Amino acid sequence: MGVEVVVDGLSKSFGAQTIWRDVTLTLPPGEISVLLGPSGTGKSVFLKSLVGLLKPERGKIVINGVDICTCPERELYEVRKLFGVLFQDGALFGSMNLFDNIAFPLREHTRKSESEIRRIVLEKMEMVGLIGAEEKLPGEISGGMRKRAGLARALVLDPEIILVDEPDSGLDPVRTVLLNQVIVDLNAQIDATILIVTHDINTARTVPDNIGMLYRRNLVMFGPREVLLTSPEPVVVQFLNGRPDGPIGMTEEKDTGADELARLSEISVPPMMPQLDVTPGMPERTAVRRRKERVLRQLRSLAPSAQQEILKTLTPEELALYGFSAPATGAWPQQTEPIAPTPAPLPQDEVADVPQQVRPTPYPREPEAPPWGGAPEQTAEPVESSRRRWFGRKRGEQ
Ligand SMILES: Nc1ncnc2c1ncn2[C@@H]1O[C@H](COP(=O)(O)OP(=O)(O)O)[C@@H](O)[C@H]1O
Ligand SMILES: [Mg+2]
Repeated sequence: MGVEVVVDGLSKSFGAQTIWRDVTLTLPPGEISVLLGPSGTGKSVFLKSLVGLLKPERGKIVINGVDICTCPERELYEVRKLFGVLFQDGALFGSMNLFDNIAFPLREHTRKSESEIRRIVLEKMEMVGLIGAEEKLPGEISGGMRKRAGLARALVLDPEIILVDEPDSGLDPVRTVLLNQVIVDLNAQIDATILIVTHDINTARTVPDNIGMLYRRNLVMFGPREVLLTSPEPVVVQFLNGRPDGPIGMTEEKDTGADELARLSEISVPPMMPQLDVTPGMPERTAVRRRKERVLRQLRSLAPSAQQEILKTLTPEELALYGFSAPATGAWPQQTEPIAPTPAPLPQDEVADVPQQVRPTPYPREPEAPPWGGAPEQTAEPVESSRRRWFGRKRGEQ
């Protein structure tokens, strides 16, 4: 399975220009994560930092116990072998046909025989749906095919971490969905840790297990898709719906005060879009189950509306597994005793406490309406500090 990538307090600037600061997140192993952000927020800089092509001034990136920000070049070289990267434009050699482009890393970095190389290249071309196009030159094919060729080339060294820079840029919506499907199927087949950076909200809402949002030099939030897609936080709602109104202004200067945040708390959260499933016949994506277990462990800390939305997405089998009864039409699931024995018992230390934690029904009292529409537990926090939490600290502040 793919490896975990731990990013801790990472800051990067070029001269006087801060790109982002204090970015902390963990890419869970074997899961697909998306980093969403407007153009120019430093998404590509982040990917290049992860592979050690750019050096952040502060913070750590720990992979297999090695901090690649400070490790010797020799160790960085070894860690880099774990990565497969699809750059924004596919970065193919224009004068080489697709076969040779995809074979390139194998010929450069391994001593494999040509027959072995052929076997690997054709296997990866099949994974991305390019069989038959071996002889084509990059200039003779569509942008979508070029991206898939770039992806196949990123796969030939069997990476455990795959970074994809804007898979959807320059593609029409149909080709974007096709490429997204390839990525989801790929994850099912090789269980690699995948990070996609994009400014496409649709990709963020349908593809990943985890979503992060980069905005105004800060990581606004990072977490499982269920948690972000049901979050009533105005900034998250606005981000994931691409709304022009909201705390995210068009310019740095346009900031919002408490009044505007209060008004935005009336924004209703749209129903969660279903996640793109694997193509029939593909192996199950084990990442989905790991993510759901994680979400259920933190279910109680979420807003009541979010809890309801999340429970509605569970199948009857999953509800039984976690100790909820199947929902009656239109109603949200009520908790019951866990069905014993459960169809596939989960490890004791993993989720055994989940049904206990959420019994009795969470939030039996009428929650106090918070000024910005969040969960009751969070209402104790003043708007100003809540706002600061989402936008990060101001320069010079602790
Ligand atoms: N090598 C570099 N040297 C100086 N500035 C850079 C370099 N690479 C990127 N930048 C700047 O960093 C900012 C973020 O760039 P980028 O990561 O490409 O944004 P995104 O991928 O989110 O659109 C931009 O202002 C860009 O000009
Ligand atoms: Mg970019």
